[in-house]
Amino acid sequence: MRKQIAAANWKMNLTYQDSEKLLDEILSAKIKLNDHQEVIFAVPFPYLIMCKSEVAEESGYHIAAQNCNEKKNGAFTGEISAEMIHSIGIRYCIIGHSERRAMFGETAQMLQDKVNLCLGNFITPIFCCGEPLDIRDATQQNQYVQNQIEESLFHLTPEHIETIIIAYEPIWAIGTGRSASTEQAQEMHAHIRSVLAKKYGDAVAQKISVLYGGSVKKENAYEIFSCPDVDGGLVGGASLVAPDFIEIIKALKK
Ligand code: PGA
Repeated sequence: MRKQIAAANWKMNLTYQDSEKLLDEILSAKIKLNDHQEVIFAVPFPYLIMCKSEVAEESGYHIAAQNCNEKKNGAFTGEISAEMIHSIGIRYCIIGHSERRAMFGETAQMLQDKVNLCLGNFITPIFCCGEPLDIRDATQQNQYVQNQIEESLFHLTPEHIETIIIAYEPIWAIGTGRSASTEQAQEMHAHIRSVLAKKYGDAVAQKISVLYGGSVKKENAYEIFSCPDVDGGLVGGASLVAPDFIEIIKALKK
């Protein structure tokens, strides 16, 4: 079975103390993960080292950065490089979240560069894609998401692409309380897999975990994660509430 992943995206929330407490509460639930299950916490930069040491003893639990810069290094005051993230032992990084594309002007080319820098530093990108509401209303979502994937990922070799994680996050479902229906999620995830299969072959496409993101809650996680092509979720708001995220982890396919 493909990796089934519950990924928390804390975004710009929580103090250091709050995040320690949240992580403690989640870990103290002692959820036993199978070999094919993983839990990833994407946390603010200043907490990466603390969070990494908190999960160090827990197998299947990992920490991710939420972004990295598209340049290798240099005079970019305030920015964080993939090499820096690698140097503190972090092995995952969210790339191309819709908030970053929209608010920080991240282009397909920048995301391609970020993906390359992550892979060059042994960091698994969690690559986000997803359409805005007007594109969904015009039923152009399949082509839109396909373009995002082609533009930022199709330069990769099969050996590289099969190591990355994709997160489909329809923008109209993020932070709105309105998640995609299971039919909408399954349809898009199957489409993403067929786009990957056409370029890289079915064997490669079958290995890539595709997470769903956008108003995943404890109430809908089980149903969404049960879709055959949905391999877990990238969770914002509900990942900040320990009992809720615990239920979401438990909803991963067994
Ligand atoms: P949400 O955010 O779960 O709060 O909708 C998901 C995300 O942006 O990754």
